Amino acid sequence: MKSVIVTGASSGIGRAASSRLANAGYRVYGLARSYDKLQAMAGELANFVPVEFDVTKPDKFDKVLDPIIASSPSGIFGLVNNAGYVEPGAIEDLSMESIRMQFETNFFGLVGVTKKILPSMMAQKEGRIVNVSSMAGMVSLPTIGMYCATKHALEAFTEALRMELWNTGIKVASINPGIIETNIHFVTDEKVSQLKNSRFAKAYAKYLKETPRGLPSSIVADAIYDAVSTSKPKYRYLLGSAREKAGVRLRRIAPDDIIHSLVAKRVLE
Ligand SMILES: NC(=O)c1ccc[n+]([C@@H]2O[C@H](COP(=O)([O-])OP(=O)(O)OC[C@H]3O[C@@H](n4cnc5c(N)ncnc54)[C@H](OP(=O)(O)O)[C@@H]3O)[C@@H](O)[C@H]2O)c1
Repeated sequence: MKSVIVTGASSGIGRAASSRLANAGYRVYGLARSYDKLQAMAGELANFVPVEFDVTKPDKFDKVLDPIIASSPSGIFGLVNNAGYVEPGAIEDLSMESIRMQFETNFFGLVGVTKKILPSMMAQKEGRIVNVSSMAGMVSLPTIGMYCATKHALEAFTEALRMELWNTGIKVASINPGIIETNIHFVTDEKVSQLKNSRFAKAYAKYLKETPRGLPSSIVADAIYDAVSTSKPKYRYLLGSAREKAGVRLRRIAPDDIIHSLVAKRVLE
């Protein structure tokens, strides 16, 4: 049985991907901080091993990940780097501490887990590294710019890693969803009241009110399953509505001034 590690397995996309993979016969090590949620999943899913894990605590990586690697005699076949969150806020409204924490979770944690698991894949001369990025890794938007920055960093990492692992048997894929209906869009009352006093208050109110419901996480889970299971996975899985995909394409071809003025008006006014 092939082993796959999924980070951020307790909710949303990670939860859906874990179910998809476990039901298809993979042994899934589901990692997250909410151990109770993972344990409940283990009660429902065969082949699912719950593991309490915080991607922002690199000093604990050896203690948690070494036993997983040791208990998989044929090595770790798949790594789905999915854990992440959005902290909404314009650049001037976010503290350096919160910006660093977003990078710690969405980028540095992911880099650290990848470096830890890679030798096991190299030893087997096969594997799949599937990084859950976002359309926000291809387009940057006001009021979530720091989240976009974490995903842009991830894009650069994923692309370089893929080239560095060319012809090793380890394949690297990028998952780029648009809006998916998960808990990531939930904003606490505390956060909402912090944002009230900003010059962007109107934009935040619009963001909180208008965030569309998005596609189901099962669509992303299917793409992750494809990236793990097929012999020739795609490099990029762009997943979203036709409108979102058109927006990403337009960003690539339209002049910067036109895009920036259009988006600034749409989001901020
Ligand atoms: N939903 C969307 O619209 C969307 C679109 C594009 C990309 N994405 C990406 O998809 C990924 C999953 O997000 P989601 O939408 O499924 O959100 P979600 O439902 O909020 O799930 C996020 C997962 O990440 C885990 N996580 C957060 N911080 C962690 C940490 N420090 N250590 C370990 N696990 C941590 C959470 O578990 P615990 O809290 O239990 O630790 C949870 O399992 C993220 O990388 C996100 O950027 C989402």
